[in-house]
Amino acid sequence: MKEKLRQIREKALSDIAGSDGLARLNEVRVAVLGKKGELTAVLKGMKNVAPEERPLVGQMVNETRAAIENALEEKKQQMEALLLEKKLKEEVIDVTLPAKKNKVGHRHPNMVVLDELERIFVGMGYEVVEGPEVEYDYYNFEALNIPANHPAKDEQAKFYVGNDILLRTQTSSVQIRIMEEGRLPIRMIAPGRVFRADEVDATHSPTFHQVEGLVVDKNITFSDLKGTLEAFAHEFFGPEVKVKFRPHHFPFTEPSAELDVSCFKCGGKGCRFCKGEGWIEILGCGMVHPHVLEMSHIDPKEYTGFAFGVGLERITLLKYEIDDMRLLYENDIRFLNQF
Ligand code: DAH
Repeated sequence: MKEKLRQIREKALSDIAGSDGLARLNEVRVAVLGKKGELTAVLKGMKNVAPEERPLVGQMVNETRAAIENALEEKKQQMEALLLEKKLKEEVIDVTLPAKKNKVGHRHPNMVVLDELERIFVGMGYEVVEGPEVEYDYYNFEALNIPANHPAKDEQAKFYVGNDILLRTQTSSVQIRIMEEGRLPIRMIAPGRVFRADEVDATHSPTFHQVEGLVVDKNITFSDLKGTLEAFAHEFFGPEVKVKFRPHHFPFTEPSAELDVSCFKCGGKGCRFCKGEGWIEILGCGMVHPHVLEMSHIDPKEYTGFAFGVGLERITLLKYEIDDMRLLYENDIRFLNQF
């Protein structure tokens, strides 16, 4: 038995010393220490050893195993060290080479303008809220005083998802959702995406963004609307612009108006930018229609309000003098980097 163990040990150690790679080393390990290995076979033969000799033989087996395991480990470490050294020699890194630049994106002009808008209105005490893009017909039309057969409903070619569910055509729907919550007074702006079945061209897109505004409180008058939107125009386009409220019609406001600002390019004299008009249309606005308040369970005798809606892309194009809306959707970094 002793002789057998000595042979196993000697053969294993010489095999280990002669191994030329980690794979070969593993083969040696399996051949000796594996389930069907030589040393394992000796252990299995222990039952044939006389009981009084077993402790001694057991100790010898353990010593043999330990010696082989040590040799295996030592050889493995040697091999790994050699491999690492070889790799380091092969992979020379030239630290003087210029690094690859990370591609960094750029804030979208829409976002720059939206941040500015939010800054202005939050500064006046407004809250920024959101509403769903997939909306009930009720919130998009009906509760805004646009009943089933109203012509205003046909004007906004729309995407229906179900019988009375559609992709919202205007953010005005958020007015209703906030009024229904019943927390008064209200001072909110609601930015968001809207959808209309329009063909793509320089000024149209089937999806664009609006920012809705709504104020409801006691004693809100048209002069509050004018003062607020004039302050906005001065902050956004510059203190020198003049504002003009032109009568208009929206079903959910009465009276309604469109806000024009004097052309900030020519100062109002008339140029190509303002198409010779001297004025540029900015947004729609008006006093919230009493019936709209009523439908949202607000008493129009106690509360009044004003609302406005502005096209985000529209004022972005104006502010940065971009002449094609499609540029805003291509996200070409060479374009975006300019803002
Ligand atoms: N929702 C209108 C549109 O899409 C814009 C608008 C006009 C919103 C007047 C308003 C408003 O809140 O008072 O054309």
